[in-house]
Amino acid sequence: MMSTPAPEILENYNIHTLPRHIAIIMDGNGRWAKQKGLKRVFGHRAGVDSIRDVVTFCAEAGIQYLTLYAFSTENWARPKLEVSMLMKLLQEYLVKELPTFAKNNIQFNTIGITEQLPDKVQKLIRYNKEQTQSNTGLTLTLALNYSGRSELTEAMRSIAKQISNGQLKPEEITEEIISNNLFTHDMPDPDLLIRTSGEMRVSNYLLWQISYAEIWITPVLWPDIRRQHIIEALQDFQKRDRRFGKVN
Ligand code: FPP
Repeated sequence: MMSTPAPEILENYNIHTLPRHIAIIMDGNGRWAKQKGLKRVFGHRAGVDSIRDVVTFCAEAGIQYLTLYAFSTENWARPKLEVSMLMKLLQEYLVKELPTFAKNNIQFNTIGITEQLPDKVQKLIRYNKEQTQSNTGLTLTLALNYSGRSELTEAMRSIAKQISNGQLKPEEITEEIISNNLFTHDMPDPDLLIRTSGEMRVSNYLLWQISYAEIWITPVLWPDIRRQHIIEALQDFQKRDRRFGKVN
């Protein structure tokens, strides 16, 4: 059952034309901290509060899928201490947020090569997935050790295996088969891609899936993001004329 949107949500935009899937590149934690004379990790910590507000809002608003870029395959190249702090924050998040998931009927999900994450994180991911698997509201997906290119590489390996063992012929490969071999095989493509902190890049995020996504970029740094910014993005999204390459 989908939750009933809160009154302030109903006043702000048309609930009948909401995006089904919102993907977010959460950027600017480091700059936020630097502006305040703090170490980068404080920016990441503050960013968790933004995650909580945005996730709760999306669940209340009746969004079906929210996919957050939490850790990219390239992020391993950051200073060791920053990587270990990010893993620690993730661990804390997975312990602390379970009640929020239960309260808001949120199903927890991940994309990315999670087998390479620390064991503790992997265990918590499994536990959160199990505990929320029968929830029917928002599907919250964290992209962890994720990149679009690594996802496509995995998909190609898997399709090549199916061909080599005779399950599939090369000429039978379709766009649908490729989609079905991605981490996102069980979700619709994002309708709206949000990037914070003003950068005009897609940074190896959901490369196949964002083909027809509307892009909304805000200069606001991720730790300053709250639900009102998402409402702004939704209002803008609803003004767009989505043609999918056709003529209306
Ligand atoms: C980018 O900021 C942010 C990330 C590395 C990913 C987002 C991580 C969080 C919001 C915190 C931890 C997440 C969870 C799920 C507990 P940046 O460091 O690239 O900022 P900069 O571009 O200003 O340096």
